[in-house]
Amino acid sequence: MAETTTTVDSAEEEGSRRDFLLLATTAVGGVGTLLAMWPFIHSMNPAADTLALSTIEVDLSPIEKGQNITVVWRGKPVFIRHRTAAEIQQAQSVKPEEMKIDPQADSKRVQKPQWLVMVGICTHLGCIPLGQKQGEPKGDFDGWFCPCHGSHYDISGRIRRGPAPENMQIPKYTFLNDTTIRIG
Ligand code: FES
Repeated sequence: MAETTTTVDSAEEEGSRRDFLLLATTAVGGVGTLLAMWPFIHSMNPAADTLALSTIEVDLSPIEKGQNITVVWRGKPVFIRHRTAAEIQQAQSVKPEEMKIDPQADSKRVQKPQWLVMVGICTHLGCIPLGQKQGEPKGDFDGWFCPCHGSHYDISGRIRRGPAPENMQIPKYTFLNDTTIRIG
């Protein structure tokens, strides 16, 4: 078991929430790290067999509504958003016919409506979408925007416009209690 840190990347509701810069998480397998160090750490990833076994545990309790964090799991960024009531309503109210590319109900993508947990990799060619950090473009559907070729994802991580063929993936995860998840 190894100690890791997680960065809060976005605070939409209050600038002061940026004070939550470092959140402690406990990782099993030792793959969590600072997203800012992504390119560097990526080159130091453990061997594939180690990655395949790894899971991480994430304490969600410090993440306030409207905030995002990014953790690294099996060498991939995982976006975690604590959604507001308005965002939940927005995600749930989209009709199937409005999702032309990969229709999927929000309820199929979350275990608890307030927590969106997904692999933060664009399903087109693998760029990391913007929208995690404060001030970054969130696209036309108030979620995430991939600048590589212009894919727009909504607040459920569903592809709504652009060349990406699928919604952002939902990893396997389990709630260990109300505010702790194990990914993997
Ligand atoms: Fe995201 Fe092409 S990689 S739109």
